[in-house]
Amino acid sequence: MNETATLWWDASNSSIRYIDQTLLPIDYTITECRTIGRLVTAINRLEIRGAPALGVAGAYGIALAAHVCQKSDLHAFMADVHRDAETLRATRPTAINLGWGINRVLAKIRSSPDVVSARMTAIAEAQAVAREDTACCHTIGELGAALLPDTCTVLTHCNAGSLACSSWGTALGVIRSAVNAGKQVKVIACETRPLLQGARLTAWELSKDGIDVTVITDSTAAHLMRTSTIDAVVVGADRITCDAVFNKIGTYMHAVCAHHHKIPFYVAAPLSTFDTENRERDVIIEERGREEVTTMGNRTFVPAASAVKNFAFDATPLDLVTAIITERGVLRPPIGTDLILSLKSTQ
Ligand code: MRU
Repeated sequence: MNETATLWWDASNSSIRYIDQTLLPIDYTITECRTIGRLVTAINRLEIRGAPALGVAGAYGIALAAHVCQKSDLHAFMADVHRDAETLRATRPTAINLGWGINRVLAKIRSSPDVVSARMTAIAEAQAVAREDTACCHTIGELGAALLPDTCTVLTHCNAGSLACSSWGTALGVIRSAVNAGKQVKVIACETRPLLQGARLTAWELSKDGIDVTVITDSTAAHLMRTSTIDAVVVGADRITCDAVFNKIGTYMHAVCAHHHKIPFYVAAPLSTFDTENRERDVIIEERGREEVTTMGNRTFVPAASAVKNFAFDATPLDLVTAIITERGVLRPPIGTDLILSLKSTQ
């Protein structure tokens, strides 16, 4: 399978280059960001999206901030980079990887002796974040593939694929690795209202790789589980606390249905997605604009007088999760914070 990076640093003009995910599947366009303002727009518009990809974007964002800052005084330079870091961090509050990627590069440049060395260190660390993400996805893929039957139909929600990561994917990494291992895997991709990451992105990625994929409306999932079409559900995650998995809105609904029908419900995510400091009640669920729900193309189909709620994510209690597939092994709930901290510390 062809492995393409979702985003990368272009040293020729100090920019972040990325596949613009708002244009797929119609147009495959590589866009560039040369300012923090443009990167903020790209993240807000979901041109770059998916938790691990946001971690990489946060890391490259600090490299970009370090490059656009013209100050030669180290203290003033660090102040500007930290201000940009906070602007970036605020773009998407639920996906923990964004802040994780930002913090990792900030920590690495903290002891830089001068501005030039801070810039070089920032790029090197961001590139390491991207490389490690790809490696994590491959390990998650192999560990997850072992959980799937040799012939199976897997339901997934949103896009937890190559586009949501540096490459390969978490949930779709499991599917890719299973197919590579010779398993016969059919994928049911929920369209994922309102922005259709499943219909546009998951279906595009999998069909490009020759993997059998069928798109359904989100509300078809329960029917397919009831009629025994689905052998397993595999999704990604935007944040995992000690009591819940946060993922694209609709994930909880699939978890409840899978539990009812005794279908394994797997979450595939790197350790960078775990939040050991908060519980479900502390996490902000991002709410997005009404136009994402009320319009399609140029057409508005919800009356202007009607209120709209547009939650980007929901929380699935861990007791509905069969296992979480990480790069350090397959974890079965309950999963204590101590275990996660110990796994993270051995990285
Ligand atoms: O709003 P998005 O498209 O960024 O939401 C993405 C998801 O919910 C993904 O399922 C999640 O980030 C896991 S990606 C490996």
